[in-house]
Amino acid sequence: MTTTLIVLAHPDPGSFNGAWAEASACACRSLGQDVLVSDICAMRFDAVEGRPHFPGYAEGRPFDPLKAQEEATEAGEIPVDVAGEIDKIRAADLVIFHFPIWWFAPPAVLKGWFDRVLVHGGLHSVDARFDAGLCRGKRALFCATTGASAAECGPDGKEGDIRLLLWPVAQTLRYLGIEVYEPEIVHGVHGYFEGAEDLMLRARLTGVLDGQRALLDGLTDRPLMRFNADADFDADGRLKPDSHSYSPFIRHPS
Ligand SMILES: Cc1cc2nc3c(=O)[nH]c(=O)nc-3n(C[C@H](O)[C@H](O)[C@H](O)COP(=O)(O)O)c2cc1C
Repeated sequence: MTTTLIVLAHPDPGSFNGAWAEASACACRSLGQDVLVSDICAMRFDAVEGRPHFPGYAEGRPFDPLKAQEEATEAGEIPVDVAGEIDKIRAADLVIFHFPIWWFAPPAVLKGWFDRVLVHGGLHSVDARFDAGLCRGKRALFCATTGASAAECGPDGKEGDIRLLLWPVAQTLRYLGIEVYEPEIVHGVHGYFEGAEDLMLRARLTGVLDGQRALLDGLTDRPLMRFNADADFDADGRLKPDSHSYSPFIRHPS
């Protein structure tokens, strides 16, 4: 049976993002999946990695987060809140992230969740990255909203290409070996429409919620974001001249 983890990064479960995450949970249950939920704002997840999370880390020793995470993992002293999230990720075949774009990126709480939860020595290892990532076999989907319109978030849009804004988060998962579906983005979501425009937005958002079951039912047919394989890079980690570039983030020097 498929286990799906739904991660919501929005301070209000009554927001559209909250409703969308709930629609995902309902859809997954109706598709017979086991559903786990991390509503990271409601959980008051502490998104700041640091020494206070590691009481066993010697005072006076410079704080090295990767070593602190690795040593805590080996000692069985991972912070309880992080351990709970790791268990959920380990159990999950699919992780669906629901979040708004805030300042051209996911909200900081989600970045901090990555910083703390994707622990070195546990969910990731510098010795087992990308093709060899420790979370191979899992897949992820971003369900994100923007205030800006689709045109403004396109390749030539003034807000910047949303697919590029999401690339660093996707690359984070790729580093762990997780495959990432092409994102589902709902644009033009904000509370500043009035009258007919507001009614049109509400109808559009209702359509998104109503369509979530079909979207998730057909998920395995959805294209995956393309990333270079390890073999596409030379011994120094540079893209080989004859390797394809899938993103401006990893490209051939001009
Ligand atoms: C702090 C903050 C920063 C934002 N930055 C962006 C942005 O960079 N691009 C954008 O399109 N919308 C931006 N927005 C608008 C949100 O994306 C929009 O309000 C959200 O997608 C609406 O979803 P919700 O109703 O679930 O909150 C920002 C909103 C906030 C609160």
